[in-house]
Amino acid sequence: MELPLTKTGIVGLDQLLGGGIPVGWSTILSGEPGAGKTCLSVGFLVQGIKEYNEPGIFCSFNESKKELFLTQLAFGYDLQKYEAEKQFLLLDLSYGRALGDGQLALQQYKLDLPALTKRLKEAIDSINAKRLVIDPLTIISLLFDDIREIRYNMFRFFDVIRRFGVTSLAIAETQGEDVYSVEEFLAAGIIRLYNERSGAKRQRGIEIIKMRGVNHKRGIFPFSITNQGIIVSPDVEMPS
Ligand SMILES: Nc1ncnc2c1ncn2[C@@H]1O[C@H](COP(=O)(O)OP(=O)(O)OP(=O)(O)O)[C@@H](O)[C@H]1O
Ligand SMILES: [Mg+2]
Repeated sequence: MELPLTKTGIVGLDQLLGGGIPVGWSTILSGEPGAGKTCLSVGFLVQGIKEYNEPGIFCSFNESKKELFLTQLAFGYDLQKYEAEKQFLLLDLSYGRALGDGQLALQQYKLDLPALTKRLKEAIDSINAKRLVIDPLTIISLLFDDIREIRYNMFRFFDVIRRFGVTSLAIAETQGEDVYSVEEFLAAGIIRLYNERSGAKRQRGIEIIKMRGVNHKRGIFPFSITNQGIIVSPDVEMPS
């Protein structure tokens, strides 16, 4: 039996992925600040709506709805329109950014992890969503004090999300190339974005570090952020 795949619809990315992301699984999208995580993940939802008739949910802890609707217009993503058409729904939990603490952020909304998953489920059901983005998932690890608790709760969270039947991209904010977070070990896949400096220049790169059950391309490939979103060049390897 073949593993069903969700096509991201992002130019060049499905070729790197050997088809797409396994349906119903969670993939981590990680990278440093400004790497393009939000742009790529919104592109995943927008392509889902436009090309595959799959509604999507964006759960935002970083940018407010107003900000996100505005910043994503730069890539041609008219989220307000998809919201009006009930193809897109944004859960705006952006208060956390100001506090920098998961506990306080969620308390502000009277949410704990079970309450958050309930909110997500309601949102998914309300528009029959097939795709989900959590930006960033990192905030959930701030809810817990020790690594065992983080691992246990992340595991449970992934398990619950999986039962919702949505294919999800969960964003992880990384602090360096070879540092991996707990969620990256637990997730079925990892897509890493780089913004590498060489002298005075920077080059954007993307790598599929793992994707369980999928024969994906290995290595870092260049991509650019354009006014039509992300464009990956799957046939050119980055110069080493
Ligand atoms: N129209 C555009 N064309 C090309 N590049 C753009 C355009 N608009 C924004 N950018 C680039 O995209 C970057 C934003 O990417 P994005 O917000 O997706 O990064 P991120 O990884 O989510 O960052 P953070 O960690 O801050 O959340 C900007 O920093 C800018 O360099
Ligand atoms: Mg972002």
